Amino acid sequence: MRGDLERVLFDEPAIHRRLDDIAAQISSDYRERELTVIAVLHGSLMFVADLLRRIPLPLKLECLSVASYHGEAQSSGDVVLKLATASLSGGGQTTVPHVAGRDVLILDDILDSGHTLAAVRETLETGKPNSIRVCVLLSKKKQRAREVVTDYVGFEIEDEFVVGYGLDFRERYRNLPYIGVLRRELLEQADI
Ligand code: IMP
Ligand code: MG
Repeated sequence: MRGDLERVLFDEPAIHRRLDDIAAQISSDYRERELTVIAVLHGSLMFVADLLRRIPLPLKLECLSVASYHGEAQSSGDVVLKLATASLSGGGQTTVPHVAGRDVLILDDILDSGHTLAAVRETLETGKPNSIRVCVLLSKKKQRAREVVTDYVGFEIEDEFVVGYGLDFRERYRNLPYIGVLRRELLEQADI
């Protein structure tokens, strides 16, 4: 898989050092409060697991699963949200997590066009939380289709397609322990 990358942007120690900083910031901002963390799956899986273990506060965790890419490298703007709570009958539910009066922290892997996080935030606002903040591991420096205010950002990156540490291209590369730029020809081949 390493051969499919043009270059590595952030290796494991660099990611973990940055997580130490963000976790310390969040822990200090929310001390004496109880967080409700909303994780946007699947891309944020590694980030959420590693970040939350660094936050020694009482918190609840809810997972949303979101689809907007439909296997492509560009967001469609057509965002579908699902609660990831499994049920025996299968499938998630399209209801809003219980956030009334709670301090909500949304965790996502990457802010790109803004469609996903804008939709997640809007949906959660209908549940009347006390506050909402957004934390992303990566934020692309670009003009967004929808503006999203972020409160905690791991790293700002150029507008390139990255994989690893939870981020996929067509469901691959999520298990790489580092983050790198996917070789352009692999993206282009996929567009045909
Ligand atoms: P947005 O709706 O365009 O902001 O895209 C957000 C979602 O698209 C993220 O949560 C990722 O799952 C995916 N995404 C955006 N950019 C990348 C990338 O460079 N690599 C892998 N996935 C990405
Ligand atoms: Mg994806």
